[in-house]
Amino acid sequence: MNAPDLIEDEYLGLYRRETESGAQWWRVSVADRPETYRLEHGVDEGDGSGAVDMDLVVDAENLRAKLKKWRREGFVMQSADALVFEPHASARTAFMPELQRAAAQALAARHGHTQEHETTIRIGHVDVPCGVDNPLVPRINPAYLFSARFNDIVEDIVENRRVMLIGHTGAGKTSLIEQVAARSHHGVLRSNMNGQTTVGDFVGFWTVKGGETLWVDGVLPTAMREGLWLIVDEIDFAEPSILAALTAVLEPHGRLVLKEKGNEIVAPHPSFRLFATANAVGAMSQFRHLYQGANLMNEAFLDRWRVYLLDYLSPAEETDVLMRTLSPHMTRSLATTLAAIAADCRAAFAREDLSSAFSTRRLLDWAELMLRTGDPERAAGPAIYAKLSPEDAALIRGIIRHHIAPAG
Ligand SMILES: Nc1ncnc2c1ncn2[C@@H]1O[C@H](COP(=O)(O)OP(=O)(O)O)[C@@H](O)[C@H]1O
Ligand SMILES: [Mg+2]
Repeated sequence: MNAPDLIEDEYLGLYRRETESGAQWWRVSVADRPETYRLEHGVDEGDGSGAVDMDLVVDAENLRAKLKKWRREGFVMQSADALVFEPHASARTAFMPELQRAAAQALAARHGHTQEHETTIRIGHVDVPCGVDNPLVPRINPAYLFSARFNDIVEDIVENRRVMLIGHTGAGKTSLIEQVAARSHHGVLRSNMNGQTTVGDFVGFWTVKGGETLWVDGVLPTAMREGLWLIVDEIDFAEPSILAALTAVLEPHGRLVLKEKGNEIVAPHPSFRLFATANAVGAMSQFRHLYQGANLMNEAFLDRWRVYLLDYLSPAEETDVLMRTLSPHMTRSLATTLAAIAADCRAAFAREDLSSAFSTRRLLDWAELMLRTGDPERAAGPAIYAKLSPEDAALIRGIIRHHIAPAG
């Protein structure tokens, strides 16, 4: 033997070969004894799990022979950092079980906490603390369906997070908040930004009454002082001055400073909640062309909210809502067909064949009128067609005919 029989460091590392069911690998590292090498073998079943199933120590000559054999078998040396990545592999599989334990403990802690001192009502999986009845509490809609998707949103309301719901018109953004408020007895104020709402309406203004100058609180300080839930509808249309006032109260205990009123500070009542809805923000910005005049919201502003994309109810959920709303006359088979028509209209809208969104509200109204007239086409006049361009009406008429044959 002439040259010292050593293996260069660059041969240490991970050798991998893809197989039909996943991947197979050999890891080569320095063993405890001098001039020996540790070889570990494992199989990945495509899910990144890779327990070691062989672990041996060989000398340099033996390793050289293995390296040749592996090369013939199609094993490829991974980047030198493959070894460095190894500790991550176990962290990677350990993460989810550990997170699930932590989340279960957090849930148990929350439950223990709320049950002690508050009256709560269960909505979905969440116990929501109740407020006191007042005229601003919305009416309960008994047909309202709390989808399991809403649990996270309701939980955020309990935790006093700022919640922004984004989605198409009529997807159910406003009614979700109103129905949570209705069931937990919290008063709601709504302020629509797509109209004449001024910063005066929102924050407050001075006025003269009977020779006296009076300050009138806007909706924001009113809701904060009285512990109401404020829905800022279509926030992507709000003026910058309104957004500036809002930014101050986006922190859970954020206070409002009424500059116009000698810097009076308004602290939030513990029941105060703030919500926003928008059509064309964030994940919905791809539809901005459908919502003329909507502003882009900057990321720093969006980061102060939990933003949920609310899609239309699924056809099965909408079938349920139709039956509950129009019971006892709406049958399941009628409702299933109507929900399928709504789904087709929405697909046409998403393809931009149709320029008008098909809301659950529109569907319910059409169905109700249809039960009165016994005629889907006649009912579609005031509930659908008259609101649309002739082209859109013709397209929807085609979808309806596709699902409903004329009476024989
Ligand atoms: N989960 C639901 N269960 C029952 N009805 C619903 C549901 N979601 C929406 N609706 C119906 O759709 C209508 C429109 O919803 P709304 O909340 O006003 O939509 P958005 O605020 O997104 O425009 C509601 O008035 C209600 O009749
Ligand atoms: Mg709304």
